Amino acid sequence: MLLFDKVTKKYDQGITALEDIDFSIDKGEFSFLVGPSGAGKTTLMRLLIREEIPTSGSIFFEDIEVPKLPRKLLPQYRQKLGIVFQDMKLLESKTLSENIEFALEILGKEAKEIKDTSEYLLELVKLQDRRNLFPNQLSGGEQQRGAIARALANNPELLIADEPTGNLDPDNAFDVLTILKNINKAGTTVMVISHDRDIVNQMKTRVIRIEKGKIISDNKGDYDTIKKPKVTSIKSKQEPKEEKKEEKEEKKEKELETDERLKGLKKDILEKLLKAKINTLELVFNLTENDLKNLKISKKEQEELEEFVKEYLNKSK
Ligand SMILES: Nc1ncnc2c1ncn2[C@@H]1O[C@H](COP(=O)(O)OP(=O)(O)O)[C@@H](O)[C@H]1O
Ligand SMILES: [Mg+2]
Repeated sequence: MLLFDKVTKKYDQGITALEDIDFSIDKGEFSFLVGPSGAGKTTLMRLLIREEIPTSGSIFFEDIEVPKLPRKLLPQYRQKLGIVFQDMKLLESKTLSENIEFALEILGKEAKEIKDTSEYLLELVKLQDRRNLFPNQLSGGEQQRGAIARALANNPELLIADEPTGNLDPDNAFDVLTILKNINKAGTTVMVISHDRDIVNQMKTRVIRIEKGKIISDNKGDYDTIKKPKVTSIKSKQEPKEEKKEEKEEKKEKELETDERLKGLKKDILEKLLKAKINTLELVFNLTENDLKNLKISKKEQEELEEFVKEYLNKSK
């Protein structure tokens, strides 16, 4: 589902935040990303959500090459992700239920669905009786659970939480972790950024450890065990690529067969794309505005293409 391929991130002032980061996450996995302060954990998340772009290497989320995603498609991409930021970002001027409902409104949901989903999410994080309180009236643990509920509003494929237990006492931290675990059991892939040893050790799950911008360990177990990333993880990393290669070769043999998923496109647009050998949805995803210009795709056609991709992304959820 997620692949980091030799990702290096250098910030302007010559700071190397991440170097040669290689790992992959399978659908349905629960994993921790651990490491001391300054290790590069938040940077890794910001690269994943395309708040930053790698200096070199690339990131794939399913079929999408994240750093190359056209800016206009970012909102659709981010709808696949549930993000819980380190500083939470619940809106102070809205009550807890309004915060969740607001996230659903932005997604264009209808009133009934907004009510039902918000109800469901409040129950999931056990905050039904706190719905009408404002963030500053909630305890730290409650705020954190509220932020998780809001991040789940778009029914994300991957939930990533940056230090969700950071400022919590052990009981509250444990409650938050239990909720994240249940969300994972229900099918969502979950990645938790943490430097809380106790929490990590309780879970006995995959732990990816970074220090000074490098992965120094990737193991199933606990916080302090150092196990070099296994060959298997490198292999699983390469699998998608090999598959893609095979797929490509097969396609070549079949003389550039058109991707079924593109067949709903307007004939004129499709013809222009096929002429440039853009015959799969993945290739369409990765078109930049410059490419579109070069392909002589008009503004109107561009809008139609965007609408088409948007609809496809929404359908595939
Ligand atoms: N926007 C930025 N500009 C320059 N340096 C940054 C920026 N963000 C983070 N860094 C630096 O990158 C390194 C990794 O930071 P970060 O990813 O926040 O680590 P962590 O989340 O593991 O504490 C740190 O040395 C930090 O100072
Ligand atoms: Mg951080």
